[in-house]
Amino acid sequence: MTAGSAPSNPAVLPPVIAIDGPSASGKGAVASRVAAALGFHYLDSGAIYRAAALAVARAALDPARSGQEALADLVGRMPLSFSAGRVILDAEDVTDSIRSEECGRQASLVAALPLVRLALLARQRAFRQPPGLVADGRDMASVVFPDARLKVFLTASAEVRAERRYKQLMDKGIHANIAQLLQDIRHRDERDSSRATAPLQKAAGAYELDTSSLTIDHAVAWVLERYERQQSS
Ligand code: CDP
Repeated sequence: MTAGSAPSNPAVLPPVIAIDGPSASGKGAVASRVAAALGFHYLDSGAIYRAAALAVARAALDPARSGQEALADLVGRMPLSFSAGRVILDAEDVTDSIRSEECGRQASLVAALPLVRLALLARQRAFRQPPGLVADGRDMASVVFPDARLKVFLTASAEVRAERRYKQLMDKGIHANIAQLLQDIRHRDERDSSRATAPLQKAAGAYELDTSSLTIDHAVAWVLERYERQQSS
């Protein structure tokens, strides 16, 4: 199967809800709660890209200078697993370390490389298990699960997203500067939206939801209601 092509018989595959959106749009919180409400599996594809960035840094490779083949080969083989909400890379719990802003920046650089994206495709699709999957990221609806039963594009203003990220980091005891976060978010939006492969954009058939003035509970309820409507139509 090539990137972007639909599986040959989507009818027999478990349903997928794809939730894409820019940095700190709330997609992780919304997607994980929707998954819990439906008893579905959950894929945080950003965590895979973040772990890939960490694996690249630890191998002393440079996303901007090392050859794409070498980077893709490394991330395709990285020993990564998810267990009880924890992210394990090479037998080490990296759940917290991959959340740093620096790791997000590096992930965005690594994620711009088409061969790296291809090397991570099968890993992401393997999360599609019964009874279903909620997947969040940038290209869940367009490339990884183009046959998703429901496609949602979550947005929020850059200012609201910077505030959310600030609160997230402070809650984890990580020092942050809101002006710097806003600048980082704008840069990351720009890089993720302008890259040639799987750019961040609303997929065809996706519903857009602006969460700037919504609580997470409201956004979760909105997605669940759309999914139920989709099921009964
Ligand atoms: O937490 P945040 O929304 O800022 O980012 P993330 O979802 O953890 O993803 C980190 C970076 O990985 C993004 O800025 C993207 O460049 C990249 N990414 C991607 O390209 N495709 C995905 N499906 C998920 C993440």
